[in-house]
Amino acid sequence: MEFFEIVRGRRSVRAFRSDPLTRAQIEAVLEAARWAPSPHGRQPWRFVVVTTVAARARLAAAMGAEWRRQLALDGQDPATIEARFRKSHERIVGAPALIIPCLYLADLDTYPDAERQAAETTMAVQSLGCAVQNMLLAAYTLGFDSGWMCAPLFCQETVREALGLGDDLHPHALIPLGYAARDPVRRPRRPLDELVIHWE
Ligand SMILES: Cc1cc2nc3c(=O)[nH]c(=O)nc-3n(C[C@H](O)[C@H](O)[C@H](O)COP(=O)(O)O)c2cc1C
Repeated sequence: MEFFEIVRGRRSVRAFRSDPLTRAQIEAVLEAARWAPSPHGRQPWRFVVVTTVAARARLAAAMGAEWRRQLALDGQDPATIEARFRKSHERIVGAPALIIPCLYLADLDTYPDAERQAAETTMAVQSLGCAVQNMLLAAYTLGFDSGWMCAPLFCQETVREALGLGDDLHPHALIPLGYAARDPVRRPRRPLDELVIHWE
């Protein structure tokens, strides 16, 4: 595939077939992440890979329990909470492989003031996004699909506990990988002249 075909063809998939991926396929996706740009070249990301049925179920159960709690706090009614929980649970256990990209800040520069420290952290988050995009494009190039779930960002401690991760790892997303069960409906893109707001 040519580059722009890959960029346009990559899509967020939310339902996967159960066909497994090989270790080599998952490693190829991670290899693409490794080459992402990063602030000072520090590569402020680490990746957790979850493939076994037991681990996917454990993670989905832990995240689901926390999400139920948060939805109840938001005042959602029990039937809606149950429906949303089931959908999310299915997405996590239904994908044959999950990658959880974690922000890792220990190697970044430190500053005496909070403002510059926050900018340094933002750079790391931007870089994590680059690493994830590389993974998504790699998966599509290799003939399978990916998705992006932001949920770990909202329950970082739960994910750490479920997977036995240290406090220095900040789970930022959950990337399900596999073969699409069906073609997803794509969201339209804004035209370029709406996005480029200044050019001189
Ligand atoms: C930071 C970020 C967080 C996202 N979180 C979710 C999510 O929690 N659930 C979901 O279904 N899609 C999520 N997405 C995927 C977007 O919904 C998707 O990229 C967008 O609708 C465009 O669709 P496409 O990826 O198929 O082009 C997220 C994407 C990004 C970049």
